[in-house]
Amino acid sequence: MIKKKINRRKFISTLSAGTAAGAISPGILPPFYINSGSNTLAAMGGTPVVPSAKIGVDWPYIDENVVNSVVETTKSGIWSRIQSRNGKVPTFEGVFAEMMNAGYCVATGSGTQALSTAVFALGIGPGDEVITSPYSDFGTISSILTCRALPVLADLDPESFQLDPKKVEKKINANTKAIMPVHISGLPANMEEIMELAEKYNLKVIEDACQAPFSRYQGQEIGLIGDLGCISFQASKAIACGEGGAVIGNDKELMEECYTIQNRGSSRQGKNETIGPKYRMNEFEGAVLMGQIKGAKERFYTRDKNATFLNDQFKDLPGAKPQKQYDGTESGSYYRYALSYNQEAFNGADRSKFLKAVVAEGIPLSSYIRNGFHREPWVDHVLGLKEYQTMYSSERLMEFKESMDMPNCDKVTDETHVSLWGSGILLGSQEEMQMIVDGVMKVYENRHQLKDL
Ligand SMILES: Cc1ncc(COP(=O)(O)O)c(C=O)c1O
Repeated sequence: MIKKKINRRKFISTLSAGTAAGAISPGILPPFYINSGSNTLAAMGGTPVVPSAKIGVDWPYIDENVVNSVVETTKSGIWSRIQSRNGKVPTFEGVFAEMMNAGYCVATGSGTQALSTAVFALGIGPGDEVITSPYSDFGTISSILTCRALPVLADLDPESFQLDPKKVEKKINANTKAIMPVHISGLPANMEEIMELAEKYNLKVIEDACQAPFSRYQGQEIGLIGDLGCISFQASKAIACGEGGAVIGNDKELMEECYTIQNRGSSRQGKNETIGPKYRMNEFEGAVLMGQIKGAKERFYTRDKNATFLNDQFKDLPGAKPQKQYDGTESGSYYRYALSYNQEAFNGADRSKFLKAVVAEGIPLSSYIRNGFHREPWVDHVLGLKEYQTMYSSERLMEFKESMDMPNCDKVTDETHVSLWGSGILLGSQEEMQMIVDGVMKVYENRHQLKDL
């Protein structure tokens, strides 16, 4: 943690020297903090805002509880969830369901496996289409492909980086069975409009809440608004066990089907009933989760509080707007803390120059997903597969290929999205959050220097 005091700030409502050199007209500039320290960007040889130590805490989160829990499991010899009803995995399922206000939880070996379990459980397979976002982890797409359904992409709302329901509606046809919204960065997607579409067209909704445990929207936990919700506990996530995941839901029968599917087709009663992969979480993963779950809600609240502070600070800064939130968003898990960069406001400097300057100030801001899924090789691979050619007409596959125009997603991946990976950073102190603000503000105020980077 950084203890060193940082520069004094003063509140101004007129143009700073840096502003005068910029492209934005003075009239639209709101008051904002000015960093009164070095006016030379660190990337140009000035003093960085964050002097040496990094912001936030190391990730994944490890404490004595985590270590002891794993040792306990090792010594117990209960290494598979089916060895005991009171093992770590079944216990975690109960604890996590309660914390999420969910009726039921089924743990899996990853978030991708949780999503795939949900697709299987809803009976979605060959010939069916699931509409989802081009901007996510590839596990989102993989979960649909492993069920041999077709992942149909719809473009984003560029300000929220979330699936745009209006673009979704255009992709609905007679083969569409479900919508899979992704709550990107851990903030809620536009669930109100997505649920309206689901009702209108009689579609299932699988929430990819892999980044969003505990986030709330319109009085409900994210993941429990649609038919099923899926969480990831991969090493980078807010609750992490290396690789792990969970399906949550309130429909008992459907959740029992999820259990059966991830148990390679065998029900809890031991009947071999259906087709299912073996996606069971093992007890060591359960042990890490049980060791970590105690403080997970508190860490969520800290992240949400710190992100709310950053949102307040950045909301009036031209050129680095906080990720748009939809009405009814109550809290976010902020897997990443994201801003939308506008190069016009930064003297025309492209995103890479802005990032170079901010990183030199000691703030690990980065771009995130390099390519929307429409620009990745799986599209042609799937079109070339005999099984897809058998399941879908050539016209349908051609239409799928030709509907890959995602200009908003391209803008987000190529130009606008910048973010902090939030799991550890947003657990930093108030002083550290202020340094993030100061670093970005310093680059804004001195943006005329960016052209020389
Ligand atoms: C939005 C999203 N969906 C799906 C996944 C897949 O989860 P996992 O890596 O646990 O398989 C992730 C994980 O990165 C994710 O962030």
